[in-house]
Amino acid sequence: MCGIVGYIGKKPALPILVSGLKRLEYRGYDSFGFFALDKNEHFLLKKVGKISEWEKNLLDISFAGNLGIGHTRWATTGAVTQANAHPHFDCHNNIFLVHNGIMENYEQVKNKLIKEGHNFLSETDTEVFCHLIEKYFQGNLEEAVKQALREVRGNYGIAVISKKDPNKIVLAKFGAPLLVGVSKDEYFVASDPSAMVSYTRQIINLDDNEVAVISPDNHFLLKEKPLEQIDWEIQEAEKNDYSHFMLKEIFEEPDVIQEAIRGRMELDKGIARLGGLEQARERLSKIENFILLGCGTARYAAMTGECMFEEYAQLPTKTEIASEFRYRKPVLNKNTAILAVSQSGETADTLEAVKEAKRKGILALGLVNMVGSSISRETDAGVYNRAGVEIGVAATKSFVSQLSILALMTVYLGRQREMSMVTGRRILEEMKKLPDFARKILSQADYIKELAKKYSNYRNFYFLGRKYNYPIALEGALKLKEIAWKVHAEGNAGGEIKHGSLALIDESFPTLCICPTDSVYDKMKNAIGEVKSRKGKILAVVTEGNEEIKNMVEDVIYIPKTLEMLTPILSVIPLHLFSAYLALELGLDIDKPRNLAKSVTVE
Ligand code: F6R
Repeated sequence: MCGIVGYIGKKPALPILVSGLKRLEYRGYDSFGFFALDKNEHFLLKKVGKISEWEKNLLDISFAGNLGIGHTRWATTGAVTQANAHPHFDCHNNIFLVHNGIMENYEQVKNKLIKEGHNFLSETDTEVFCHLIEKYFQGNLEEAVKQALREVRGNYGIAVISKKDPNKIVLAKFGAPLLVGVSKDEYFVASDPSAMVSYTRQIINLDDNEVAVISPDNHFLLKEKPLEQIDWEIQEAEKNDYSHFMLKEIFEEPDVIQEAIRGRMELDKGIARLGGLEQARERLSKIENFILLGCGTARYAAMTGECMFEEYAQLPTKTEIASEFRYRKPVLNKNTAILAVSQSGETADTLEAVKEAKRKGILALGLVNMVGSSISRETDAGVYNRAGVEIGVAATKSFVSQLSILALMTVYLGRQREMSMVTGRRILEEMKKLPDFARKILSQADYIKELAKKYSNYRNFYFLGRKYNYPIALEGALKLKEIAWKVHAEGNAGGEIKHGSLALIDESFPTLCICPTDSVYDKMKNAIGEVKSRKGKILAVVTEGNEEIKNMVEDVIYIPKTLEMLTPILSVIPLHLFSAYLALELGLDIDKPRNLAKSVTVE
């Protein structure tokens, strides 16, 4: 959701900004821009398109300035045009600014500024920041920024440079991530660590309402804060031998299951060890109901967790769309806990829901992948996924990791309640087998690619599953329509199709049925029968050895047999591959689907 970079030091800023911005492209890729300063000379460039398409030309530019900012945009306010691309500037070309977030009261402030004589060149909310800072600028940039921010409502991470107060970058943040990378005599600015990890591993996370100033030899207002270490390698943010990050990340799914469970099981006692929850252990044992929160794919993981918590931990659980939770009037009491599920830990809708729960004095937990992210800092306790960096815009390996950890949490919570040691041990023992089972599924990649090719002429798909695999049907449909956006896909619960959507089905509308041999197998078979009777073609994900469904449908993909509650961890893997291969068959960029961005930091 827009990416920001900045550099101040002794090296030419431009190549550093270009390489950083390329790594942030997953946050938005409709347009980009840079501003760099060299004494009185400045360099400003804005383009529509992806930075990766312009990289070579950009690296040919020689501009000596060793102070600069850059931005890659995911349009929120104002169309995708060169004028709307960042950096934006004030009436006198003095103040240059990049912004991630949304100014909610921008129209009101803009109208006032127009009456005061300011001249706007773009349709964006971001430009309003520039003119507001210009209004208060009297030679000291940070003072002007502080005064301007008093009039701003909304969320922002901003980096600002002034030609009349040079040699510094002023940063400010509220509700959007912003980091400073620290190295000898130089500082880096970015929305996330991937943009700076090849230059420094030491970072400082800015806090909300903080205004910071960085200059070549110092940083102010950041002094009291501890340096944090980036704990992953740059190779994690490379494609290695894969054509796309999404494919690489799907093929990492067995490893993320392994990593999710590593050191977190005590098999002989049948318990899960989740160190991040220890400080909340006592409170958790008294919790009487859970609300799981997330958006998109993370919400589907939460829905699967809801099934697990209720069936095995006997804990009343409800999943809520994070963006709705805060605006409804949920009935909460002191024995309610929330669990926010988020890969990035920066999703504004989820973060705001966590803040709302905390305002109400509720125990707030997080299941987050990005260490040190806003949600991980805002929650009282939580578990990290340890899934590594996920760059593809579509969530894949993070989802599989979320499901694995939710299964561990089920054992953790269950064992605090009625779950027997035998049941705990059975779940954990079965979980240990999952990485190999996942590898076995991925060994069918060529076959799944062939299937994707076979089905690539269809423009509509239905996905059906029941109970644990109902959220997987939703995830399969979301992934397909998101990545292969020329096709439309819908997911539904197997029993629901006869209540309306069956009207859609005919030979031109195939259905993917997730139908492992489990407690709802017979009911799923009914749904398959209903689709078949309407001439619908079916591709089914079934348990190894199942001949019955194979004989009923066009195509099957086999997954190994496991416990019912763990089947979603396996059944989703072929669906991730199917959507990636189908989108590639349609010639689409699976890492950067149109109109989207990873990490949605606006509400
Ligand atoms: C879909 C997808 C999104 C995210 C959602 C939440 O493939 O990636 O639906 O799952 O935006 O993101 P996080 O998990 O970062 O909170």
